[in-house]
Amino acid sequence: MKLAVLYDSKTGNTKQAAEWIAAGMGEVENVEARAFQIGQEDADFVKEARGAVIGCPVYAALMTPDLRAWLMAAGGKYAMAGKLGGAFATEQYTHGGAELVIQAILTNELVWGMLCYSGGGSQGHPVIHLGPVGVNSNAEEHNGMAHYKENFRIFGRRFAAKASELF
Ligand SMILES: Cc1cc2nc3c(=O)[nH]c(=O)nc-3n(C[C@H](O)[C@H](O)[C@H](O)COP(=O)(O)O)c2cc1C
Repeated sequence: MKLAVLYDSKTGNTKQAAEWIAAGMGEVENVEARAFQIGQEDADFVKEARGAVIGCPVYAALMTPDLRAWLMAAGGKYAMAGKLGGAFATEQYTHGGAELVIQAILTNELVWGMLCYSGGGSQGHPVIHLGPVGVNSNAEEHNGMAHYKENFRIFGRRFAAKASELF
């Protein structure tokens, strides 16, 4: 089963998170996971995928304009309806707005008819309510993407396990 991770990334943080998610997905048997920068995705792979996790950096507490434009075109193009959907984000401030971005992506996925999944509180530690967030060290010395690696990997594994159960 194919699973896609689709992200916008300008300086590499969200790309890194996407790769960690795909690595976690790949821990589940019979799952082939690939991560793509939006605009460079393998169209056949995304169309065939049974699930898609979409991620974005936070820009002024919103998703990037590029992701917004991509989302407007992707739903029909990639037959997103009925796929399992998830979302993630990266930011530079602990309170920088990442969950607003995740919520906006999940809302878009629901509009497409995707089945959204985060694991929520059902999977124990780490509890991931809406989707995993990474805070980089641009502005907070105590922070850094590496602190969040396990959360992204575990989220990917949980997402793939749920997709396997469903499909
Ligand atoms: C135009 C712009 C606006 C940003 N706005 C926010 C913000 O509102 N909150 C925040 O925490 N970080 C903000 N950031 C920081 C990015 O979200 C953060 O560095 C992110 O990890 C970048 O992802 P990337 O490396 O994948 O491009 C902003 C960055 C840019 C360039």
